[in-house]
Amino acid sequence: MSTMRVMEIKERGAPLALSTRPAPQPGDRELLLKVECCGICHGDALVMEGHFPGLRYPRIPGHEVVGIIERLGSGVHGFQVGQRVGVGWHGGHCGECDACRVGEFGSCERGHTTGLTMDGGYAEYMIARPEATVHIPEELSSVEAAPLLCAGRTTFGALSSSKARGGDLVAIHGLGGLGHLAVQYAVKLGLRVAVVSRGEAKRQQAMALGAHHYIDAKAEDPGKALHELGGARVILGTAPSGKELSRLVGGLGRGGELIVVTGAGDPLVIPPFLLLGGGKSIRGWVGGTLKETLDFSIHAKVVPMVEVFPLERAAEAFEKMMSAAVRFRAVLTMNHKEVCP
Ligand SMILES: NC(=O)c1ccc[n+]([C@@H]2O[C@H](COP(=O)([O-])OP(=O)(O)OC[C@H]3O[C@@H](n4cnc5c(N)ncnc54)[C@H](OP(=O)(O)O)[C@@H]3O)[C@@H](O)[C@H]2O)c1
Ligand SMILES: [Zn+2]
Repeated sequence: MSTMRVMEIKERGAPLALSTRPAPQPGDRELLLKVECCGICHGDALVMEGHFPGLRYPRIPGHEVVGIIERLGSGVHGFQVGQRVGVGWHGGHCGECDACRVGEFGSCERGHTTGLTMDGGYAEYMIARPEATVHIPEELSSVEAAPLLCAGRTTFGALSSSKARGGDLVAIHGLGGLGHLAVQYAVKLGLRVAVVSRGEAKRQQAMALGAHHYIDAKAEDPGKALHELGGARVILGTAPSGKELSRLVGGLGRGGELIVVTGAGDPLVIPPFLLLGGGKSIRGWVGGTLKETLDFSIHAKVVPMVEVFPLERAAEAFEKMMSAAVRFRAVLTMNHKEVCP
């Protein structure tokens, strides 16, 4: 193993391009993964757009990575060569700063974001940090596990930390990579689920995932429709549009919360009076616990629906995701044939 194929972004605004690089060597406190597969998250668009602190080019995107440990640094404990592991958005932290001491690893100033401040999983090999790496249980295939590492973790974390309890109405805005898992988690958590999407084509898909209600935001006012269903305890915003998400806020019920997981760059525009009655709130959510997400997904039988593409078709898969045409998560698989012995 001396070289590897990667799909990388050479500079801000550039497309994904196939390239060959020397395979990386793990440092003392690092793991070398032979990547099996990597999900394509909408968050990977940040690498093209260039808006992320610490982002440098060329950069290999990808933060839903499942791989086999190929080599270990001498300071790594708790892992062995040959084990199957996963890495998500959070790529590692120092463990010593004030943020780490209170468990806010994502705020660690010396921390890493996989595929943004360090190279990610659109590659045959990748360096990972042990504190950000999780064992993948044998019940999950690698392709099923990958989307759980960001899309799953984020939506399970947001919903399980929310105020919603059995029977409450929860609205899921956007039926993409995050949205289709959010629907399944919400159903398995015993919630009444309304999917807010665009067009009639997604009605069947939403219902097949277990949703109880479908609201076509192109054909009706989604806030009014949620209000008529009794008002939502939680609105989970996954669609990348602040403008569209704003249209749902009138559908919050008493004590309801809008949980923003979308990274949309355009503003939420909300008449303030909509938040007054019943102590409504808005908050953001990033991340979640990997092990809890994997365990819940296995026990509740939450399974990502994926479209698999070989590494070299990453640009096509990425475009399909950006145009909301993937059902529902694109996952890249590596074939290691071209790697030198
Ligand atoms: N907070 C976190 O920790 C975290 C983690 C991962 C991702 N994210 C962010 O979450 C968002 C969703 O990620 P994803 O991977 O699920 O994306 P995705 O797979 O592209 O799905 C987004 C869905 O939103 C809907 N949508 C797309 N464009 C829209 C528009 N202009 N107006 C209204 N709806 C639109 C589409 O569903 P319909 O056709 O059904 O409307 C689309 O399938 C992104 O902004 C991403 O950066 C945040
Ligand atoms: Zn992501």
